[in-house]
Amino acid sequence: MEYSDRISTLQPSAIREILKVTQDKSVISFAAGNPDPESFPARDMAEIASGLFRESSSDALQYGVSEGYTPLRELTSERIKRKYNIGRDSDDLIITSGGQQVIEMTAKVFLNEGDAVLCETPSFIGALNAFRSYNANLVGIPMDDFGMDPDALEAALKKTPRVKLIYTIPTFQNPSGITMSLKRRERLIELSEKYDVYIIEDNPYFELRFDGEFVPTIKSLDSTGRVIYAGSYSKVLSPGIRIGYACARRDIIQKLTVAKQVSDVHTNLFFQMLAAEYLKTRDIDAHISKIREIYRKKSSLMCFEMDKNFGSRVGYTRPQGGLFIWCKLPDGYDGMEFCRICAASKVAAVPGSAFSVDENEIVPAFRLNFSLPTEEQIKTGISRMSEALSEYLK
Ligand SMILES: Cc1ncc(COP(=O)(O)O)c(C=O)c1O
Repeated sequence: MEYSDRISTLQPSAIREILKVTQDKSVISFAAGNPDPESFPARDMAEIASGLFRESSSDALQYGVSEGYTPLRELTSERIKRKYNIGRDSDDLIITSGGQQVIEMTAKVFLNEGDAVLCETPSFIGALNAFRSYNANLVGIPMDDFGMDPDALEAALKKTPRVKLIYTIPTFQNPSGITMSLKRRERLIELSEKYDVYIIEDNPYFELRFDGEFVPTIKSLDSTGRVIYAGSYSKVLSPGIRIGYACARRDIIQKLTVAKQVSDVHTNLFFQMLAAEYLKTRDIDAHISKIREIYRKKSSLMCFEMDKNFGSRVGYTRPQGGLFIWCKLPDGYDGMEFCRICAASKVAAVPGSAFSVDENEIVPAFRLNFSLPTEEQIKTGISRMSEALSEYLK
């Protein structure tokens, strides 16, 4: 049997083999990207859920519209406009099954086979695979501490044929943790206009800031209608409810709506109603403040343990938010090899190469997640990793 070219481009990789060890309960995993379950507003959700089943089951269990449950669309639009100035009169908003679906549907709406997507390297695997599944030509743009290098981006825009999209995670980037400076955000918009391309701003982490200064979203700076904003409730309510959204020019949202109809008709209506009721009757901002405190504590513990155990053998930047720490090995070493040794020592991390446009690239880096492990696991896991490091750098 012949599978499609689309699916054949997505090969199971060596990384998945390493990550298989996380199924073993004795392995401490810093490999996931999951929120801390303590951050889920489970009690509020239970109360809302039982009310919904009692009073609104004929709506909650019925089909809905592809654009999303109207009160959730309105509450989301109102909140992101009021708090972050996201959305203009010419924009609209669609509810999606997570931020992942915004990326996948945008690829479907914009890309013909062979069209180019410029993205940060390293970048989020879920997005890279979505673009790969439409046989896009993925071009990685290097980053420094201020985000994507704008000169490298302009050079790529000049020389790459058929660029349609620039994909960026501007705040607490996954996996690097880097936040793009305001100046670079402005330049990105200028470049998108000059070269007639669209920007996907994927921003699931920006409300998880526990240090440093807020930087305006690219979407809020956009007066040209070229930014497709991908938002998500995964990291501020729960990823299991699978609720995200796109805010973009009305004509783009209409195309995304057609893609959504084909894909899954609409996002789970019960959970859309639950999220709407949560936004209406609870204080999501107070809830997010609590989440920030959980992550401030865990990230600071992980940094403390790394400083104590790794010393100068591993370089990293203290995160100001998000869920990840990007760690650099000395030049000439291989993150993949190191993660293999870690897995044998019962601690899991993701090798840097997993996030590269070219998965076979040797990257002297690895990504750690601090949101999911407990404090005890952070201490024990970093100590195990330090022993693996001694073995590897020997
Ligand atoms: C950068 C980035 N974008 C999008 C997503 C997708 O999140 P969701 O579909 O749960 O909203 C993730 C999930 O980890 C992510 O890291």
